[in-house]
Amino acid sequence: MSKDFSTKLLRWQEDNPRPLAWKGSKNPYHIWLSEIILQQTRVEQGTPYYIKFTSNYPTIADLANAPENKIMKDWEGLGYYSRARNLHASAKYIHETLGGKFPETYEEILKLKGVGTYTAAAIASFAYDLPYAVVDGNVYRVLSRIFGIHLPIDSTTGKKYFQEEVNKLLPREKAAAFNQAIMNFGAKHCTPKLPACTSCPFSEDCVAKKDDLIGDLPRKKNKLSKKARYFNYLILTDSASVQIVERISKDIWQNLFEFPLLETQQETKLNQMELLLEEQDQFKDKFEISFIGGGKQTLSHQIIHAKFYKIELKGSNSPFTIEGGQFVSFKDLANFAFPVVIRDFISKNIYQSSFLL
Ligand code: ADE
Repeated sequence: MSKDFSTKLLRWQEDNPRPLAWKGSKNPYHIWLSEIILQQTRVEQGTPYYIKFTSNYPTIADLANAPENKIMKDWEGLGYYSRARNLHASAKYIHETLGGKFPETYEEILKLKGVGTYTAAAIASFAYDLPYAVVDGNVYRVLSRIFGIHLPIDSTTGKKYFQEEVNKLLPREKAAAFNQAIMNFGAKHCTPKLPACTSCPFSEDCVAKKDDLIGDLPRKKNKLSKKARYFNYLILTDSASVQIVERISKDIWQNLFEFPLLETQQETKLNQMELLLEEQDQFKDKFEISFIGGGKQTLSHQIIHAKFYKIELKGSNSPFTIEGGQFVSFKDLANFAFPVVIRDFISKNIYQSSFLL
């Protein structure tokens, strides 16, 4: 079976071509961009960002010379923002230290910030036809099922074993085609929930199919449980502008903007929020509070439950600026990068004329 694997896989790819915006490109810069975008993102979601970045930053020099906040703004909505910061840092490194020449060996590519073994193998094979096999979630799924591999994919032993297996399967002259095919096969055919087993070229050989283990493979030793966090946002506004603040803490959303935040251990109710603010000197006896809306954003290890509270200062008390905060007109909010849950809140509540601030 091992011998036939790549033949069958490459034939499947020929029969099932996939339109991809970067298909056929040998431009290492474009390939690098696409692979960074696709690290934690599905092709359907990532493609418009790939098009935006190649159009706004046609060359590495353009990306290197762009202001960080513009890059963050263009990345808005894609998540895992360290990818954008690393992309920028690496573009500067290539532009300033490597004379603008994209690295051409696996080891040199691996030195770029934000590039791990998976991405280095993808770039090395797609851009330079070097014989490096990729191992991503798709590859784990396809190989664990077809070959009946039970080693956990989140263990060192498991990772090493899968890498060795796929290295053996890789046809050295066709690394790019093989890597693209195995990813596409995992994404489109051998999918996590409802794989197309009845029309599968491997159905005769597939151990998981034979042993009814499709739902059990690949295996993981740690099933992740996500931590719930409760973010209470204070909408401090006069009639035309609202206060925002840059998130500088390293935990999540670094360099994105948000409203002044009170994080709590539990979900809040309006009266609890009122009591919490009463305890703070700057608010004591000075405000009215109302609940505007809520939202939820799921990250890789956390679920953020956000609530938005409008704070109106009574009488002659005018809105004050918290440390690091700034008042921005409703219109100018469009120029700042926000996490998705906040951007949704803004577009539902602030761009619409019905927002009664
Ligand atoms: N995921 C990561 N890289 C990819 C690629 N080149 N094609 C499809 N999906 C991918």
